[in-house]
This record gives sequence, structure tokens and C-alpha cells, in this order.
Amino acid sequence: MNPTTEAILQLLKNSSSYISGEEICKKLAISRTAVWKHINTLKNLGYDIDASSRKGYCLVALASQPLPQELRQYLHTEIIGSNIEYHLDVSSTNRLLMKRAEEDNNLHEGILIIAESQSHGHGRMQRPWQSPPNKNLYFSFLLKPKIPPHRGPQLAILSAIALHDSLKDLFPKLNLGIKWPNDLYIGNKKVAGILCEMQTDMTAIKHIVIGIGLNVNNTDFPPELDSIATSIKCETSQNENRTKILARILNRFEDYYKLWLTNGLKIFLPMLNKSSILLNKNVTMNSGVKQITGIVRGISENGNLLLENNGAIEEIYSGEVHSVRW
Ligand code: BTN
Repeated sequence: MNPTTEAILQLLKNSSSYISGEEICKKLAISRTAVWKHINTLKNLGYDIDASSRKGYCLVALASQPLPQELRQYLHTEIIGSNIEYHLDVSSTNRLLMKRAEEDNNLHEGILIIAESQSHGHGRMQRPWQSPPNKNLYFSFLLKPKIPPHRGPQLAILSAIALHDSLKDLFPKLNLGIKWPNDLYIGNKKVAGILCEMQTDMTAIKHIVIGIGLNVNNTDFPPELDSIATSIKCETSQNENRTKILARILNRFEDYYKLWLTNGLKIFLPMLNKSSILLNKNVTMNSGVKQITGIVRGISENGNLLLENNGAIEEIYSGEVHSVRW
């Protein structure tokens, strides 16, 4: 945001009622026309500002979009959000960030890209991720952990735990659960998905992009998703503040990321197993070209699924559970 626009926004926020155009002109040494232009920019960004020729300007409501200048107020991170971009429409926040990181080796860890909508939002196995505007959260951030490549995929699980815990704090009544490896459910409906993409060379991780799609205020799903997807609003019957939710997720993720860098997943396992919707369930899953059936007995220190089959425990390192006997 242009610094003068930001300064006007700050004046509006600091003022308990109307602030006159004249006062803004004086404080910022700009013309009345310039004030009017910046006010229009703010209105176009979604801020509800009342303009009265007699009284001046009054901020009626903040923008509902997760805008960087609003998000920053709630963030207490050192890494995530070091740089924040907000786009009205992109193909996919993951695709955009992966491309940027490939083109620029010096791109800073923590850069965050938020989109209001995505034309080609996608999940694992290139499945489309519905990304309508003004309702949900679609965002990706860049990590450059100095760890061996085999640990990289654990970040998807770590993100699922951070997402779960931050939403549990905000909405304690929701029946939230994690479906290995990286989906978040409310009851038996999916509310969020995580796409973790990694670029490595022979021995090290070059970068990892974590992309999260969270259904917040969407209540209108296409017929094929209606019985399997939900949103926070569908469950709470209220419009929720996307900016505060996003900040909570990022703050929590960074805390967990720092712990994970030194301790690994081990310390998160009790909580992860407790919130796993698959624990002790009979499942059928695809792992590579194989289809396997068994009872889920937990998640290992490496983030693998522990599947019991004929009395033996097999560690599944990647795959997709497609059928659960509840
Ligand atoms: C899945 O369910 O398989 C993961 C879905 C991940 C969707 C998010 S939305 C933000 C980011 N950009 C994308 O294209 N995908 C992720």
C-alpha cells in the first residue's frame, strides 16, 4: 500500500468519529483532491468509509479481505510473513511461489502470498481446489530449512497440526480432526487441504512451498463437494474474520516450525495421534501402485502411517486413504 494511503488509514483508525478532510490535508501536507483519491483507493480495497461533505471521513468497518497491513497487526512471527503479497486473482499461490523461488535463489524464507481467488487452485495429485473470491483463505509461504531432504514431507504434517491447533483455539466447539497426511476435517467433511511442494538437489532442500486452502465463509459448494466438504461458517453459522484466522495459523505454524527444526516430529506425536480421524480405523488406501487395507495404529516419528495388516505393522510413507470404515 502507498505510504500516504497507509497514513490516511492510520488517521482514520485513530479517530473515534469523523476526521475532516482539512485536518488530513494539514497533517499529511497533501491536497484535498489527493485525500479524496486515497480514500477511494481504500474504499476499493474493501474499507467501508463514510464521506460527508460537512463532517469529513469516518472508518465504518475494516476491509474483510486478509490484507497485508491488517494481517501485520496480528502477526508476531520472525520468519513467516517477512514479506506479504496480496493478489486479487492468481492461477495458484503455490505455482506462483514455486516459480519465483526457482527463478531467484535468494528469495527470502517466509515470503507469504495470499490470493482472494485462484483460477487454477489445486491440491495433491493435481486435483482442483475450488477458490471462489471473498470467502476463504488461499495462501502459500516459502521455507528454506537446512535439513536433509527426507525430512521435508514432515512439514505437511506439521502444517496440519498447526492448522488444527489454531482453529481449535479459535473454535473450541468444532469437531476438528486430521486425516493423514495433510487434510483437516470437521466431523466427516473436509474443511482444509495442504499442498507441500519441495525442490531439492542431491543432498539438500533448496526450498519448500506450503500452500493452504481453508474454507472459511463459503456455504455454497458445487454438488460433487456438497456432502464431503464444509467450511467454518457452515459449522458456526457465523461469518468469520479471515485476517485473524490467518494470523493465528501463521503464528502457530512458526512456533511449531522452530520446535520441529530442533526436535523433529516426536514431540507432536501424542497430539497428532489424538486428533487423527483415522486412528484405529479400518482403511483401504493407495500407496504407489499398491492398494493396501489395514487398521491405522498411529503415525511414526518420521511422519509415516502405521498400518496393521495380519498382525504386522507396516510403515506407509506416502499415500491416500480413500475408504474408511467408521
Ligand atoms: C489438497 O487437498 O490436496 C490440498 C489443497 C491445497 C489448496 C491450497 S489453496 C492455496 C495453495 N494454492 C494451490 O493451488 N493449492 C494450495
